[in-house]
Amino acid sequence: MKELTMQELVNYCKQYGFIFQGSEIYGGLANTWDYGPLGSRLKNAIKDSWRKRFIQEKDNAYEIDADIFMHPKVWEASGHVSSFSDPLIDCKYCHTRHRVDNLIESYDDKARADSMTEEEMMKYIKDNKVPCPNCGKSDYTDLRQFNLMFETQRGVVKDSKSIVYLRPENAQGEYVNFLNVQRTMRAKLPFSIGQIGKAFRNEITPGNFTFRTIEFEQMEYQTFCKEGNDTEIYNYYKEYAKKYFTDLGLPENKLRYHDHEKLAHYAKEACDIDYKFNFGWGEINGTHNRTNYDLSRHQEYSGESLMYLDPETNEKFIPYIIESTVGCDRLVLAILDNAYTKETLDNGEEREVLKLIPYLAPYKCSILPLVKKYHTEKSKEIYQKLSKKFMVSYDETGSIGKRYRRQDAIGTPFCITIDNETIENNTVTIRDRDTMEQITLKVDEIEKYIEERINF
Ligand code: GAP
Repeated sequence: MKELTMQELVNYCKQYGFIFQGSEIYGGLANTWDYGPLGSRLKNAIKDSWRKRFIQEKDNAYEIDADIFMHPKVWEASGHVSSFSDPLIDCKYCHTRHRVDNLIESYDDKARADSMTEEEMMKYIKDNKVPCPNCGKSDYTDLRQFNLMFETQRGVVKDSKSIVYLRPENAQGEYVNFLNVQRTMRAKLPFSIGQIGKAFRNEITPGNFTFRTIEFEQMEYQTFCKEGNDTEIYNYYKEYAKKYFTDLGLPENKLRYHDHEKLAHYAKEACDIDYKFNFGWGEINGTHNRTNYDLSRHQEYSGESLMYLDPETNEKFIPYIIESTVGCDRLVLAILDNAYTKETLDNGEEREVLKLIPYLAPYKCSILPLVKKYHTEKSKEIYQKLSKKFMVSYDETGSIGKRYRRQDAIGTPFCITIDNETIENNTVTIRDRDTMEQITLKVDEIEKYIEERINF
């Protein structure tokens, strides 16, 4: 098996209906991507898997669906208005704009720009004469901070009071609803609030397919706890997130922890999980011990008490928050990157296989009538019965070999062939995507056979 390039993955995703360039017929809009029929099914399965692991299987965990628009003061309290920015410089020759930390790290992959001050980064650029990736010269403007929040106006009057932001993260929706959830669910600490939703960032250097985009989806999860339990919960979620990824099929050797050296001023501990993409290591998850910073700030800015009353001790305090966040689109990309393989068979033929765990496969099985003329009726009958249980595809065009290849390429774990044996004896052959082995089953046994193999 050879290494896959990003362009091959982009082409594959387009060819099979996973991901298309955004607004393609207009020449595309840079760094926007649309999920096609199979991509949205995969993405939905990933969201379902997250809900299962982080909400359903957890005691005391609640999902919410907060609005994208929030009161502008939320973003003042959170610190996004004053400091959610990227350090940028422009090349004086070709006028291209760059993130200084990216310039440094792509010049020397051992350099850690995240632990440098602004002055140190500029000194590094000057001392090393770091070249502009576009024109090769090394003469830049001074560093400026560029806020990443998208802002828009609401209402008819265009003044500063009517500015609203498109949320740059989901987390704040979970923080401002902390007491609503706690009271209505009669929750005791520790308890968690999770949500899946869109976030928007005016990234200056988006790229690498869907890895860094301006619109993306996050699966964020906040555990509210008492100070003193925080580090134990933080360590627990570091491991829990990694186990979630390996359960989804990402191999251990393509995952690594990246503990932050330089912490945000409110953070006590922070760690990313990186996945080894074909372009290098990239963050897919973050675990953050945010202390009681967020709720204290919202209490201060809103003037509303966000204290928790401990029913056992009668103590009142502002809880600590442990955040576990996953970039949904990055996880889709990692899973596609890992699952897409090209194999050379013994007969020299090349086989494209999307080795997804069956739970994530867009179609759980495909119904293939061997000869359209004779086997369609029975095939349709089986197709309709199974469709009530899971997503099933139906394919009657081309040779059986070609149809197997097509299903392999989109990750369908089981191909069910309907032939004369089905009509005479009520049996089918089921072919396994990965081993290509076939077994015979009674029609009535198919559902159970598949159900047992698509669990998560
Ligand atoms: N609430 C915390 C937070 O937003 P973050 O590390 O900035 O933390 C969380 O983002 C996750 O969102 C990241 O781990 C990443 O997977 C995803 N993410 C962040 N920026 C992104 C972008 N521009 N495009 C796609 N995914 C992104």
